[in-house]
Amino acid sequence: MSGTARLDRLLANLGYGSRNEVQQLVRRGAVVLDGVAAEDASKRIPITDDLPERMQVNGAPLDPLPGVALMLHKPVGVTCSHKEAGSLVYDLLPSRWRRRDPALSTVGRLDKETSGLLLLTDDGALLHRIISPKAHVAKHYVATLARPLQGDEAARFASGTLMLEGEDKPLAPAIMETLSPTSARLIITEGRYHQVRRMFAAIGNHVALLHRDRIGALTLPADLGSGHYRAMNAADIAAIFA
Ligand code: URA
Repeated sequence: MSGTARLDRLLANLGYGSRNEVQQLVRRGAVVLDGVAAEDASKRIPITDDLPERMQVNGAPLDPLPGVALMLHKPVGVTCSHKEAGSLVYDLLPSRWRRRDPALSTVGRLDKETSGLLLLTDDGALLHRIISPKAHVAKHYVATLARPLQGDEAARFASGTLMLEGEDKPLAPAIMETLSPTSARLIITEGRYHQVRRMFAAIGNHVALLHRDRIGALTLPADLGSGHYRAMNAADIAAIFA
């Protein structure tokens, strides 16, 4: 983000409240820029990357400016949706972030019972760059299976002819590596509905546990605990496309 923005609009778009509410915040002296309480909420201020270090609201650093990209370690049992019942991935972020405009969205989805690396961003162009079929971004999953592998799975997944139930276009070739008699790494470049579970179902097995640990060359950091998130830096984003 660059250029200038009215202070009240910037704060309202970051979820700090309605225009009226943020004007009250400013009147109370709760918005400080470069050590000085802001006085005029209608004033335009330059938007620079260092604003979160230079501005405090209620004594805390300003939230990240638009252009946020996050990696989240999604736990089992939370849903990638803005409005379904039950626990949502957005509940794992600060509650104010739910009122941001532009809104944060997940980059694709993991189903409720799947854990692992999930990306979120408010940058629509980045989101589309990652999920575009043309980008061929490889998504790596570790699947724990209900039944032992038979030995022919990797060839069937690599064939480019496997059909999922209810579909009429075969799957693109995928890579499977055996990890144990009942677990495998599956690397896919498509993003069809419940794809990994349906791929194993199509060959007569059943996925008991599913975890995504890598997107492109970006791996889920070992020190990012389940339910926790972290901002991505430029190198992380480059790794997705590497
Ligand atoms: N495949 C699935 O079955 N579930 C996911 O969440 C992702 C890929």
